[in-house]
Amino acid sequence: MPAPSSRQLLVGVRAAGLNPVDFKTRRGDLRVVQRYRLPVVLGNDLSGEVVACGDQVRRFRVGERVFACVARDTMGAFAQFAVVDEELAAVIPASIDFATAAAIPVAGLTALQALRDELHVSKGQRLFISGGAGGVGTFAIQLARRLGTQVATTASPRGEALVRQLGADLVIDYTRERPASVLSGFDGAFDLLGGDTLKQAFAIVRPGATVVSVAGMPEPDAASNGPGRGPGLQALFWIGSFSLRRCARRHGARYRYLFMHPSGPDLSELGRLVDANALEVVIDSVHSFEHIADAMAKLESGRAKGKIVVTMTDVP
Ligand SMILES: NC(=O)c1ccc[n+]([C@@H]2O[C@H](COP(=O)([O-])OP(=O)(O)OC[C@H]3O[C@@H](n4cnc5c(N)ncnc54)[C@H](OP(=O)(O)O)[C@@H]3O)[C@@H](O)[C@H]2O)c1
Repeated sequence: MPAPSSRQLLVGVRAAGLNPVDFKTRRGDLRVVQRYRLPVVLGNDLSGEVVACGDQVRRFRVGERVFACVARDTMGAFAQFAVVDEELAAVIPASIDFATAAAIPVAGLTALQALRDELHVSKGQRLFISGGAGGVGTFAIQLARRLGTQVATTASPRGEALVRQLGADLVIDYTRERPASVLSGFDGAFDLLGGDTLKQAFAIVRPGATVVSVAGMPEPDAASNGPGRGPGLQALFWIGSFSLRRCARRHGARYRYLFMHPSGPDLSELGRLVDANALEVVIDSVHSFEHIADAMAKLESGRAKGKIVVTMTDVP
C-alpha cells in the first residue's frame, strides 16, 4: 500500500488508461531521459476515489472521484491503490464515468498543451496533425476544430471515418499518399509519429511556422522541460535532433519537441469540455485489469482507435 506524503492523495484506482509511454518504459526505450529504481509499478493515467489525504491537502476530500496523470518520476497507476500529488489531480465531473475519465489525462493534456502552449493555434489557421486516429490525435483534432482551426490529418482507411466524424477537414490516406505531396503552406504541424512523417511536416508548413512533435527526437530546448534533467541531456538532444533541425532551417520552419507535463488545472479544463459535450473521449476498448497484458499488446500494435483502458472491477 503506497503511503501519501503531506500533499498527496491516496487513490483507490477504478480505471487506468494505457499510453505508448507505458510500453516504451517497460522496454527500456526511455532510459536516457528517465531512469527508475526497479521494481517499479507502471502506469500514468488513473481515475478513482480518494481514500486518504495527506495532512496538507486542501482541495480534495476522502470519497471524491478524481482523475490524474501521476508524476512521471514515480508512475504507479496500474495498481489498486496509487498516490497522486494534489496539484496533479482534478475532480471528475458527475457526467463522466471512471473508464472515460482514465482515458483523458496523458493524451488530452498532450493535445491541449501542444496546441495552446507551443502552436498557439487560432481561428482561421490551417494545422496538419499526423496520426489523427490514435489517443492524442482524437483529442487534438477536436481541440483544434473548437479553436476554429482547419485540420488536415493522416489516417488509414481503418481510421478515416473516425477522424472525419471528429471534425478533420481533410484526410490523407497515408497508405496511398505522402502528406507532403498534397499539403503545403500550413500554419503549423503537430506530429504524433516521428520518422519520415515528421520530416515531411517541415515541407508542409509555411516559412516561419512551427512543427511540434511528441514522437520525434527531442531538440535541445526540450531538455529543460523534460524528465531526468541530466547535464548531458541537452547535448544528447542537440546531436540526436541535428538532421531534424537542419531540415527545419532549410524550410524556414521552427522545430519544437514537447514533453507533456501533468497538470490538475489543465485536466479540470478538459473535464469541463467533456462534461459540456464539447469534447468526445474516443475509447477503442475497455479491458479488465486481469487482461492488461492483452490490452497493452493491442496498444503496442499501433492500431488503437482512440484510447485503451483497463478497469479494476466491473465499473461503468
Ligand atoms: N512527448 C510526450 O509527452 C508524449 C505524450 C503523449 C504521447 N506521446 C507519443 O505520441 C505518439 C502517439 O501517441 P498516441 O497515444 O496517439 O498513440 P496511439 O493511440 O497508439 O496511436 C495509434 C494510432 O496511430 C495511427 N497510425 C499508426 N501509424 C500511422 C501512420 N504511419 N500514419 C498515420 N497514422 C498512423 C493508427 O492508425 P491506423 O491503424 O489507421 O494506422 C492508430 O489509430 C506515441 O509515440 C507516444 O509515445 C508523447
